Amino acid sequence: MSNRIKISPSILSANFANLGEEVSEISKSGADYIHIDVMDGNFVPNITIGSDVIKSIRNYSDLPFDVHLMIQNPDLHLENFASSGADIITVHSEATIHLHRTIQKIKSLGKKAGVSIVPSTNENVLDYILEDVDLILVMTVNPGFGGQKFIYSQLKKIENIGNKIAKINKKIDLEVDGGINQETARKAIDCGANVLVAGSFIFNNQSYSEAIKKLQLV
Ligand code: DX5
Ligand code: ZN
Repeated sequence: MSNRIKISPSILSANFANLGEEVSEISKSGADYIHIDVMDGNFVPNITIGSDVIKSIRNYSDLPFDVHLMIQNPDLHLENFASSGADIITVHSEATIHLHRTIQKIKSLGKKAGVSIVPSTNENVLDYILEDVDLILVMTVNPGFGGQKFIYSQLKKIENIGNKIAKINKKIDLEVDGGINQETARKAIDCGANVLVAGSFIFNNQSYSEAIKKLQLV
């Protein structure tokens, strides 16, 4: 885990009518990753974007695409997302039975592998795969929508996962997603998070770079 805090703006809160320009602007505003929320209307009660849209915005940014798959049976779609220009592919532990196999498949496609867990999932599901992943994504809202309130019970979970990562002495991003603002960002960082996903906090601000700076300086 690096000490520097990375910011991964979630384009779920961007203006979809102008997505290329939005991605381009956010990429020049101090972001580290571009967070892309893929939802299938099955694993979560919302449908967003697929691999073709990711392909179409790939040229608008030089930043790594941090693709968060909120879809059932992600194995069926990994090739598509890998070839669309994703750099990090994160799946939900709840959406695949053979999580270890799914992670190996992502890595065999030459991508960084992430695993996410929803607020009701115990962090112990990560124990047997931690050494295999590049990123752990802790959901601090129930996934499906932007603009929800941070669930504070997840802070303890972030801390527990941070301790597990410290024990194995491997560089793994510990990312938090959902309800991030200056106050919750500070708390998540204090518990060991090093990557902050933020949607509404950044895109509801007139100046994206100012909002990103605010999160970097909490
Ligand atoms: C929620 C998504 C998040 C969401 C975050 O299911 O995974 O990435 O866009 O949005 P905010 O920051 O508004 O909670
Ligand atoms: Zn997300």
